[in-house]
Amino acid sequence: MDTNVQKRRENKKSLRVKVISLGNAEVGKSCIIKRYCEKRFVPKYLATIGIDYGVTKVQVRDREIKVNIFDMAGHPFFYEVRNEFYKDSQGVILVYDVGLRESFDALDSWLTEMKQEMGSQANMENIIFIVCANKVDLTKRRVVDESEGRLWAESRGFHYFETSAQSGEGINEMFQAFFSSITDMCENGGKRPTPEVNVGFTKEQADTIRRIRNSKDSWDMLGVKPGATREEVNKAYRKLAVLLHPDKCVAPGSEDAFKSVVNARTSLLKNIK
Ligand code: GTP
Ligand code: MG
Repeated sequence: MDTNVQKRRENKKSLRVKVISLGNAEVGKSCIIKRYCEKRFVPKYLATIGIDYGVTKVQVRDREIKVNIFDMAGHPFFYEVRNEFYKDSQGVILVYDVGLRESFDALDSWLTEMKQEMGSQANMENIIFIVCANKVDLTKRRVVDESEGRLWAESRGFHYFETSAQSGEGINEMFQAFFSSITDMCENGGKRPTPEVNVGFTKEQADTIRRIRNSKDSWDMLGVKPGATREEVNKAYRKLAVLLHPDKCVAPGSEDAFKSVVNARTSLLKNIK
């Protein structure tokens, strides 16, 4: 075959992509990457200094993908080093530790930092995000459950995986889904194919479940003022029941949220004459 034709074919099949890892210090970003690339786990914490860079080759369908991995330091001290590396990323691995709520709560601020650094032409829509709920092997210290993490991720159109760099659980599956989505996006002219994740629930449902989880008492949970009448409580209950009934709502955590609402209504009605 003409060597030029052959080269063009090969070029069409090979891709270069850039991915970055984000999340608080010590959540396990470097260990997840190491587990995938080197098939090993290092129990001792070695903080990433600024940024670590590595290249790996993967095969997705008939394409060879050269993946440039920029593993960011999570410590705020390294902000000045990592801020230059956000641009031109096709994929982001967002990591939190299921045993540390603040690392989960910090995911929003990581997205904010990224948006800020990417500047005005930033298009977060055309980046594949994958959320790793990491350290699931440490079951006893877990404080962020699956439905909460999944809801946060899927309501934003992000993938969600439960992972353990220590045992290897979920790591290969997560990277396979990640690279396959990035390849789909590249084949789609650099646009994230829609829907990236078919969530099957609305933003209103996701926001309501989050609000119910964070409510401070039964009044707050039903969204009525303390001292509300029976009618007001029942009206608020019916509205939530329609939104969250397990037959109608498939959002992660909807069943628990529905049960909490039923219990809140029962306890309020007991005390209202
Ligand atoms: P920075 O580089 O400082 O941002 O931290 P990092 O997110 O890269 O964390 P790193 O991968 O260095 O891991 C931090 C600590 O958590 C290390 O002591 C790891 O051994 C441990 N660790 C990482 N992943 C897991 C896991 O899945 N399970 C358990 N049990 N420990 C983990
Ligand atoms: Mg690291």
